[in-house]
Amino acid sequence: MQSFPYIITISSEKGGVGKTTLATNLAIYLKAMREDLPVTIFSFDNHFTVDRMFELKGQRLAGNVHDMLMGAQANQVVQTGQYGVGYIPSSTELGDINERFKGPMTLTRMLAESGISGIVIIDTRPDLNILTQNALYAADRVLIPVKDMPSLENCRNIFSLFEQRGIDKKSLALIPCLIDERIKFEGVFKDQKTLLRAFAANRGYRCLDTYISKSPKVESLNTNPDGKIYPILTHARGTDVHGQFAEISREILNCYDATPESRACLYYTWLSEKEGKKKESYLARLEGLAERCLICGALLSEQPEGRGFYYETSDRSARGFLHSACFTDMLCATLYGMTSDSRTFDAARLVIADKAGKSVSLLAAKDGNRPEMLDYRQFNTSGEQIFQKDIDLAGFSEGDLEGNNGKLYLLLNESLTGYEGRLRSDAWLAVHPVDPSDPDAVLHEDRYRAVQNVQRQISAAIL
Ligand SMILES: Nc1ncnc2c1ncn2[C@@H]1O[C@H](COP(=O)(O)OP(=O)(O)OP(=O)(O)O)[C@@H](O)[C@H]1O
Ligand SMILES: [Mg+2]
Ligand SMILES: [Zn+2]
Repeated sequence: MQSFPYIITISSEKGGVGKTTLATNLAIYLKAMREDLPVTIFSFDNHFTVDRMFELKGQRLAGNVHDMLMGAQANQVVQTGQYGVGYIPSSTELGDINERFKGPMTLTRMLAESGISGIVIIDTRPDLNILTQNALYAADRVLIPVKDMPSLENCRNIFSLFEQRGIDKKSLALIPCLIDERIKFEGVFKDQKTLLRAFAANRGYRCLDTYISKSPKVESLNTNPDGKIYPILTHARGTDVHGQFAEISREILNCYDATPESRACLYYTWLSEKEGKKKESYLARLEGLAERCLICGALLSEQPEGRGFYYETSDRSARGFLHSACFTDMLCATLYGMTSDSRTFDAARLVIADKAGKSVSLLAAKDGNRPEMLDYRQFNTSGEQIFQKDIDLAGFSEGDLEGNNGKLYLLLNESLTGYEGRLRSDAWLAVHPVDPSDPDAVLHEDRYRAVQNVQRQISAAIL
């Protein structure tokens, strides 16, 4: 069975509020409290705190956060680090990725498809750039450390991002951090955390029950002769902060246990359903196709090679593929009266083939009252008309399939012919060039939408 991660994002636009301290230590506590739970952490920061905390000496690295964002399978770049926590090494090169990372759900998809299970913790930079936004949208839980009024005011942007995208704000929670217990106030709000809580509640922001105290011991864990950063769990056991982290971790684990399907899982399911629907409509499109090339009459299942054009009538009653050679030869004969015994045939044919391969052909009855004339036009890919010629259909309704127009008549016969062998005036036929190495691709969702666009433009052009 496929596994999906439960994602926790630590975010705040304010710097130095304790995001990284929270992210890294939370990872360690979660792992310590539940040994069999995979816990993975990475950071969009370039401070390398994650690396300094989790890397094992002499470890060979398979890649970093940059590689993951560029498309490397995420579980391939996860390293098993200290304390059993998995980490993705940090990168200094995320600045320019920022520019290229356009979609808001890209990270969600990457993590959903990563094969990583358990809990993933994402530490973000103190801004709301596109990477942070991606981390926010991917998250089952967002923890926002706040230490003072300015950092509390800053939360507004995160909340309004969620509002804009219509995401449930239940996943967002503030956590008072760096709380100095020595500071006491007169009056109703007797201390920092009570004050922050009250202001948060007043703005409709949810707070965790727990807060994190400011502790000189914790602060000192960053500064060591060996350049390492020590965890609170092992090096600050006696502090209040230790108990507070244990409490936060318990709450997170409760939420994790109460979430049968994480956001990544739901998004993945939604994506696959969408893909499934795309596939269904593709198969449906394949189904209504003519079995033969209308011009040479060959079964396309027997001669699939060389299909270079897709045709469709405006009412979609006739659809199918034509061989490149068949359609080009038809144009040579119909437009220029050239057949293969003409002296300049080969050279001219190349030019005609090239032009046809770059344009969409329209075939329609010329005006309602003159159905014995054909209106032939070519449009470029942006739907502008680049060529027009009237073609006399003498002999067509009598069933004369010989002569210069023989190939044209064969094509019209099974696509645009109505009563008494006359051209229908209520529909027209368009012939689109396709990639001969993969003609069926024209029926895939995106390409087919482009075909329909051109059909619409033609429809507007001939009104
Ligand atoms: N509970 C705490 N008690 C005392 N000092 C703390 C505590 N938590 C974090 N600090 C210190 O506060 C400083 C900022 O912490 P941290 O790096 O975690 O913040 P940040 O929000 O990640 O910062 P940035 O926005 O720059 O990434 C660090 O020096 C850290 O050691
Ligand atoms: Mg940080
Ligand atoms: Zn053919």
